[in-house]
Amino acid sequence: MTVIAHVSDLHLDLSERATRRALTIMNYLRDLPGPLDAVLVSGDIADHGAADEYAQARELFELPYPVLVLPGNHDRRAAFRTGLLDGKPDDEELNQVVRTPGAVFVLCDSTIPGSDEGLLSDHTLRWLDGTLTAEGGELPVFVCFHHPPVDLHTPHVDRVRQFGEERLAAVLGRHPQVVALLCGHAHVAAATTFAGLPLLVAPGVASTVPLPFEGRPVVDHVLAPALAFHVLDEQWRLVTHYRTLG
Ligand SMILES: [Fe+2]
Ligand SMILES: [Fe+2]
Repeated sequence: MTVIAHVSDLHLDLSERATRRALTIMNYLRDLPGPLDAVLVSGDIADHGAADEYAQARELFELPYPVLVLPGNHDRRAAFRTGLLDGKPDDEELNQVVRTPGAVFVLCDSTIPGSDEGLLSDHTLRWLDGTLTAEGGELPVFVCFHHPPVDLHTPHVDRVRQFGEERLAAVLGRHPQVVALLCGHAHVAAATTFAGLPLLVAPGVASTVPLPFEGRPVVDHVLAPALAFHVLDEQWRLVTHYRTLG
């Protein structure tokens, strides 16, 4: 059994408000009897991609589990690399593979520097294809990125979702060991499918983007922060629980 917590869109800006909401989530995870196999943070970790925002994130991510991080449109690749991954400050796509005892997490960079829209570059898709081929089919694989590759019926986000998604679908179709796609960016707990796979969106810690017919602000700062737990059993059946904390 593999159990992961999935958190997204902290938008840390050193404000009291963002800090408080992030602490609500991270303290909950830190105090769990556990164990968890990993905590995935699917982007927009810093609000401005600033070094002091990543320094705060690093403190918040001191948890008794591996913490997997990938960039969102508010992050900056170079500062993200130096602040969170002890890497060199270069601006190339930030793609990573992380293994837990029971699963593989392929973390793809869907950001376009200077844009809020998402795209998996040709380079990243070739890397994803090659990585999945090299992994083989022994362990289940989660493919993770920031931008959802489908409309979620929230126009504010749908305008800046991940485009060029048919190229991703073609790659995924060659690798049946992929069990689910995990993303953020939409600031809402949502579940759908893409390329025949579950596409699970983590809620935003910083804020929520409600549906248009709910009559709430386009970006709602009142609704409580939340996270997802993904539980994968030995038969590779995935169950997701969403937990609101407030
Ligand atoms: Fe965000
Ligand atoms: Fe985003």
